[in-house]
Amino acid sequence: MTLTGGSISVIGAGTMGNGIAHVFAQNGFKVTIVDISLAQLDKAVANISKNLDRQVAKGTLTEEQKKTTLANIHTESNIIEGVKDAALVVEAATENVELKLKIFEQLDTYAPKSAILATNTSSISITKIAAVTNRASKVIGMHFMNPVPVMKLVEIINGYATDKEVTHTIVELSKQLGKVPCVVNDYPGFIANRILMPMINEAIYSLYEGVAGVEEIDTVMKLGMAHPMGPLQLADFVGLDVCLAILKVLHDGFGNPKYAPCPLLINMVAAGKLGVKSGEGFYVYAAGSKELVVSGRFAN
Ligand code: CAA
Repeated sequence: MTLTGGSISVIGAGTMGNGIAHVFAQNGFKVTIVDISLAQLDKAVANISKNLDRQVAKGTLTEEQKKTTLANIHTESNIIEGVKDAALVVEAATENVELKLKIFEQLDTYAPKSAILATNTSSISITKIAAVTNRASKVIGMHFMNPVPVMKLVEIINGYATDKEVTHTIVELSKQLGKVPCVVNDYPGFIANRILMPMINEAIYSLYEGVAGVEEIDTVMKLGMAHPMGPLQLADFVGLDVCLAILKVLHDGFGNPKYAPCPLLINMVAAGKLGVKSGEGFYVYAAGSKELVVSGRFAN
């Protein structure tokens, strides 16, 4: 089974949605980004254009390729119009189970019966999402990593009923995007977040218990384990609300206290300190600055 005809529809024009649209369009696919907010759609196209400029500046993309990539991208605020010709839909809306279930009911109604419905969820059950559709065999997880144009991995998650042919199609498609696919099964957090989030949570516990400061914890993991970012900086980058939501999925899903989110993480989310997107988390983020400054709350 290969994806023939039709185009790719990406639901949600946030950071992940625009990254996913970027890589499909750059690899020759016609992409429609669907979002109810016209402002968000404009912002997504502006972001893609800015990220393509980085690639042009680095010499990894020509000006001509940038133009072709942008010409492959369309935007649509009406979901019925946005998915009517799709061969594949990749849902990348906010990580909220009720919202995703509602979107999948709509996708099942409005996308062609032959379309594969994929979700970029970072931890919500594919099986649960598939169960609200009449095509559970065509529902699959296609989990890209942030920043999508840079990160090589696509974690592909088989739901309980996902057809082998559908998995094969998504594996081959991921390779066409220049990515490395890894197929895993549908259990809480899959593989990426089952391993990443306990590490981040443990880093936050280490800070909370006063074992070390923000800079020390991140430096140990950056220089000691060759991670590109320390776990606290990575938590800010992913979003502390997203980290908390994923930990809750692990905690509820396994019923094991080892996944209980650190009280400091819970407090920070309640205080609106969500990391990069809110301007402050473990670090503070000034617009346009690349300097890493520890939040005053955690300064020595
Ligand atoms: N689009 C295109 N290119 C981009 C980009 C984007 N959005 N963001 C960064 N880049 C490119 C830069 O142009 C640069 O290219 P060169 O290597 O050719 O110079 C390269 O990426 C590195 O960028 P920077 O020099 O700006 O910064 P950096 O060296 O500090 O790297 C980083 C930034 C790639 C984000 C790096 O810090 C990193 O890999 N961090 C860890 C990222 C990670 O772990 N992501 C997974 C998060 S978990 C997740 O996504 C899933 C989930 O479910 C929670």
